[in-house]
Amino acid sequence: MSTAEITRPGCDTLFTAICSLLSEGSETLEPIELFEVMRTQTSARGYTDEPVSDEDVHRILEAATWAPNANNRQLWEFIVIRDAAVKKGLADLYRKSLALIIDSAPGDVAAFDSRTAPKAMIRWSMNLAETLEDVPVIVVVGWDLAGSPHSPDGIFKVFRDETVYTGVMPAVQNLMLAARGLGLGTCLTTVANIYEGKVKELLEVPASVRLVAMIPVGYPTEPFSPRKRIPVAEKLHADRW
Ligand SMILES: Cc1cc2nc3c(=O)[nH]c(=O)nc-3n(C[C@H](O)[C@H](O)[C@H](O)COP(=O)(O)O)c2cc1C
Repeated sequence: MSTAEITRPGCDTLFTAICSLLSEGSETLEPIELFEVMRTQTSARGYTDEPVSDEDVHRILEAATWAPNANNRQLWEFIVIRDAAVKKGLADLYRKSLALIIDSAPGDVAAFDSRTAPKAMIRWSMNLAETLEDVPVIVVVGWDLAGSPHSPDGIFKVFRDETVYTGVMPAVQNLMLAARGLGLGTCLTTVANIYEGKVKELLEVPASVRLVAMIPVGYPTEPFSPRKRIPVAEKLHADRW
């Protein structure tokens, strides 16, 4: 389904503001409603070779920086990768990491809830691994501990370690939602963190920065579709568990 086909039922003022922020400057896409963006921002693991403009990359990164973050220190860093050799290096490390994970995963995937579709996900993950160097843009997101108020040991170590992920992930989510709003696919990936040291070496990242996520960005080969989720009612607890 293209964004143009998605209806935009009665956006209230807030939604309208967000829709117009997401769509401002976009010549090809109609704004789509915020909840529809969230419902259909599925992980894209196949991409066309249609280029992604610098302007769109800037817009989704700017949206990323609107995320909440501890103390508003904004310790996130974004590396935008378009260079073919660097993408190839990342793709090699991604494949190596994924192979390691698949080899050590429990064999009985059929035991999972079918609504989580682990088999299809592994097949799709392989597709991304095999084509990662061809994705127009890869964004690597990191967190610079040099600016962290917490000491690397003692009582505040727990906050320091925790904020590496809690600090970055809201920004990553904003980035992916903004991309979806522009008709761009993304996939939050972390498997290459297994080889974080090698990724840092490849990208010449300073020692104080931890890498958290690698996000391919491009126009997806598959249409955006509703997310496959267990109904809220099965996850809901009123007042007590
Ligand atoms: C912390 C985290 C790490 C993830 N790492 C990967 C990854 O390394 N590779 C991948 O293909 N997908 C990865 N995903 C995407 C999930 O597999 C995906 O969100 C999930 O299967 C639900 O599918 P959907 O996003 O299409 O709704 C990750 C998601 C999260 C939240």
